[in-house]
Amino acid sequence: MRAVRYTGAGAAAEVTELVEAAEPVPGADEVLIRVGAVGLNPVDVKIRAAGVDFGSIEYSPLPGWDVAGEVVAVGAAVDTPAPGDAVYGLARFPRAAHTLAELVAVPAADLATAPAAWSVAQRGGAPLAVLTAWHALEAAGLTGDASGRRVLVLGGAGGVGHLAVQVAKARGAYVVATASPAKHAVLAELGADETVDYRDQAALAALAPVDVVLSTVDEGVPPLGAVGEGTAVVTITGFPEGAEEALRAAGASTVERIMVRADGPALAEVAALADAGRLTVLVDTELPLAEVVAAQERLETGRVTGKVVVTLP
Ligand SMILES: NC(=O)c1ccc[n+]([C@@H]2O[C@H](COP(=O)([O-])OP(=O)(O)OC[C@H]3O[C@@H](n4cnc5c(N)ncnc54)[C@H](OP(=O)(O)O)[C@@H]3O)[C@@H](O)[C@H]2O)c1
Repeated sequence: MRAVRYTGAGAAAEVTELVEAAEPVPGADEVLIRVGAVGLNPVDVKIRAAGVDFGSIEYSPLPGWDVAGEVVAVGAAVDTPAPGDAVYGLARFPRAAHTLAELVAVPAADLATAPAAWSVAQRGGAPLAVLTAWHALEAAGLTGDASGRRVLVLGGAGGVGHLAVQVAKARGAYVVATASPAKHAVLAELGADETVDYRDQAALAALAPVDVVLSTVDEGVPPLGAVGEGTAVVTITGFPEGAEEALRAAGASTVERIMVRADGPALAEVAALADAGRLTVLVDTELPLAEVVAAQERLETGRVTGKVVVTLP
């Protein structure tokens, strides 16, 4: 089968190749998937450039964590899914998963039935990003009915941000999102109640306190005007030294950095929202496996709206 392999640490064009690899054999708790689409995430390109583990995130020369496709075989201990089912998932994260290949073996617990309402590219593009949004909002206590609560998403147009906006909206929250002005209309379509240009310091300073700040960007301390007594602050990228003290001094009740994890049951809830028409995935760029270098380079611009996805026939 064809698979993507990194020959070492470096730029996408220098170290990415397509190779013939051995077909994986699913273990007892695993499912063999014929891959239809794989979302690329910043972690894929950062770990390729570094060529080593990132803390608990395992480096492998065979990359890829997101996956959507059709089940072709299941291990002896697997009841669901079954051969022929369309599934999607974040495989094994933070262990290496090798999804950028024609076939991949994935633990059944990491998978859910793919949303019927989504294209294969949307299914493949969603898992890591939507689970990050899901787990981050959960960490901030934004679960269940969040009517009347106010959420600020910093980086609302990115892979994680555009899904966080929608998940918070689906829970009933009032959502404020930052993005460059060209992306404000699309965020409004996704349900954002207010959009703010992240380069407009006056607009950022004028933000009123919210209940939850979710930061998906690496831009220093979040706007302190948005932080008041009891604001829960969550980051997926980390804050600079001193930021936590400043946020707590402004009233933040919690300041937390979270790390996404594989989570099939949460993806089943995501699929229910998708099929109810309440959650969509913006596909910024969709390229075939043979163009996986261009796909990585597009993601590395840092300017995407939604997801970059590699598709397989
Ligand atoms: N902790 C975890 O488990 C976890 C999980 C997933 C991702 N991450 C990390 O989270 C970060 C975001 O991931 P992602 O997949 O969402 O990235 P992404 O899709 O590449 O994000 C790109 C978006 O960020 C926007 N952006 C850049 N700087 C901004 C700023 N200062 N304010 C507002 N928007 C800004 C860009 O908009 P413009 O073009 O308008 O600038 C673009 O729409 C990455 O560093 C990634 O490694 C962590």
